[in-house]
Amino acid sequence: MLLRRLSEAAGVSGDEGEVRRIILEELDRLGLPAEVDVLGNVMARAGERREGHTSGGAGGVAGRPRVMLAAHMDEVGMIVTYIEKDGLLRFGTVGIDDRVLPAKEVTVGRDRVRGVIGLKPIHLQDPDDRKKAVKRNDLFIDIGARSREDAEKRVKVGDYACFKSSFAKIGEKALKGKAFDDRVGCAVLLRVLEDAHEFPLIATFTVQEEVGLRGAAVASWTVDPDMALVLEGTICSDTPGTEEHMQATRLGGGPALSIMDGRSISSKTMLRGLIDAAERRGIPYQFKRSTMGGNDAGRIHLSRAGVPTASVSVPCRYIHSPASIISVDDFENAYRLVSAFLDSVEEGFRP
Ligand code: CO
Repeated sequence: MLLRRLSEAAGVSGDEGEVRRIILEELDRLGLPAEVDVLGNVMARAGERREGHTSGGAGGVAGRPRVMLAAHMDEVGMIVTYIEKDGLLRFGTVGIDDRVLPAKEVTVGRDRVRGVIGLKPIHLQDPDDRKKAVKRNDLFIDIGARSREDAEKRVKVGDYACFKSSFAKIGEKALKGKAFDDRVGCAVLLRVLEDAHEFPLIATFTVQEEVGLRGAAVASWTVDPDMALVLEGTICSDTPGTEEHMQATRLGGGPALSIMDGRSISSKTMLRGLIDAAERRGIPYQFKRSTMGGNDAGRIHLSRAGVPTASVSVPCRYIHSPASIISVDDFENAYRLVSAFLDSVEEGFRP
């Protein structure tokens, strides 16, 4: 399964190469020409090519809208900042909640050197320590090295570290893995590209979303779309301890539509178009009930003279941790919803 390969690939922000290679391979298999820009974003034109059009330039071909679909390739992770004399690695984090770090397995660097995030054992902690969340500065990555010299044979400062977590089907309807934010978006997008469309559709796989939506800023300038749809994995908090009104999304409740988050307000027309498409095809959907966070839409809608933008997201429990859970049905329905929306563009929907 493609989602397995994407989920198990290492791709912390700024180090998306392994994910990019899988995506370029898939685009090649689909016969879609792809470009990689200076920052590492991947852009592939679909639609136009199938219609035999040449490149349309800004504004699309003969009044047809130019549609950008975007998913980010990067994931949260760590970067090695210092190697201690005893061979333990100090690290900085990229988009991670320090509380999920202790005792997790990681891989470090291109060679995927195995390690564990270590901390002081409970027996040696002060009663006060136990009341506080563990801070990153009290943690280190242990790769089994005996000294700095020994560690330096296998890793170096600046190496990225990423969670080691295998993909699995659990129960009847759930998938478990790391980096579903946003490899689910990448997988949905690649699947959408299997279908033919008659307008210029530009698939964009962005870099550095988790550190401030950076790849999307330049990609959207290059693509110059008439509208953009961001495909994401988003917060799901339907578990005990979260009051119902605080539950951003529910697992199995369908793909989530964002009305507003910390970085953008969705195009009202596109939201209406997405809801109509869902209702026409009987596809379940939900609204994301949290205005926190932000995704690539935050940069794309501000590109050039402004771009109508909306997001479709797959709910991910335990997001930004080594083990997220999604519903197979939400994943399928996200694909169906994007596909139905693109069909409505084919039939004349304009933002
Ligand atoms: Co994301």
